[in-house]
Amino acid sequence: MNTEERRVQILNILQKETEPVAARKLAEQFGVSRQVIVQDMAVIRVKAPEIISTTRGYMLQKTGRKEGNMTIAEIQQEILRMKKEQDVCILAHAYQGQEILEVADYMGDSYGLSVQASKSSCSGVIMCGVRFMAETCKILSPDKKVWLANPAAGCPMAEQLDIDSLRALKAQYPDHTVVAYINTTSELKTECDVCVTSSSAVQICSRLDNDKILFIPDPNLGRYVAKQLPEKTFAFYKGGCPRHIVVSEKDVEKARAAHPEALLLVHPECRQEVVEKADYVGSTTGIMNFAKKSDKEEFIIGTENSIVEHLQFECPDKKFYPLAVQLTCMNMKITTLMDVYNCLKGRGGEEIKLPQNVMDGAGRCIRRMVELGG
Ligand code: 13P
Ligand code: SF4
Repeated sequence: MNTEERRVQILNILQKETEPVAARKLAEQFGVSRQVIVQDMAVIRVKAPEIISTTRGYMLQKTGRKEGNMTIAEIQQEILRMKKEQDVCILAHAYQGQEILEVADYMGDSYGLSVQASKSSCSGVIMCGVRFMAETCKILSPDKKVWLANPAAGCPMAEQLDIDSLRALKAQYPDHTVVAYINTTSELKTECDVCVTSSSAVQICSRLDNDKILFIPDPNLGRYVAKQLPEKTFAFYKGGCPRHIVVSEKDVEKARAAHPEALLLVHPECRQEVVEKADYVGSTTGIMNFAKKSDKEEFIIGTENSIVEHLQFECPDKKFYPLAVQLTCMNMKITTLMDVYNCLKGRGGEEIKLPQNVMDGAGRCIRRMVELGG
């Protein structure tokens, strides 16, 4: 059976089923991997947008996935109505699911979200992403009410270095400028000179007067930046994103062998051995823009796998393959459409409140990023 025939059969199955069908079950039935089914679904859903993805699998919306007694489309309509009524804007990181992106006012990478947060004229903001993103938003917009849609959404990398360990590290490098990846807690940022995102790191580090930089906590992003700036000396901390670092050179070889025509696009949080083999290295938005503008047709995506799905939606005539199945960030995936709905209903989410010394100290570090990154 070829790809087209399999996709027609999957659509037939979903039209008959009244219960959600899991990707894993379809994978077993057709003798392909789960990732192949995820890609099939991305293509099928372009033509059949009434198919929704639920936590239990894919199903046709008309068969009625209900949250209480509402369908996904009804929940989305309610969210759109409530956010307008309450003057709230919804910011979503690019790793969020499609259902959330459809109700968001803005979708982007960490840098884009920070800038957008300060530009928005709404009186409230709901952040669909992880905690440090909501905190950054609050610091840049102290007069707005800012909610993290799901309070359990943290970034493990942001928690890797506590303030005492940072102080000890700084003592080892007293003449270095401390550059913090934005994936850090606000408390930690109070002890840093400037923060950076994956899309602004090279520019910001190049604009620093000091040629000695202590880069925390991600040594992979740090080494990528250091390579672009040979005139500067870098010291690193041994942190890193637990998702991106699991991908190895072997995964690259496997993906390249399976898709010899595809370009490899990776996030700089990947290990150096992976980054060195990439055709393009950039932030989540950078990767999406590159793939959309490129006249090539096939791409291996070396960042969180939701980017594969979003790109497949936006560019149905191109093909996107995940570099590895492990590239799924459960922290980013924990936020659901119902969290956004409950947040607007006033019965969910967490309003971000930070002590004044953290607002001031982290604010100095974040505002310097916006100044130098613009
Ligand atoms: P971006 O700045 O590329 O959005 O990255 C954020 C992140 O957490 C990547 O894992
Ligand atoms: Fe944090 Fe990594 Fe998840 Fe990004 S992908 S939010 S760095 S754990």
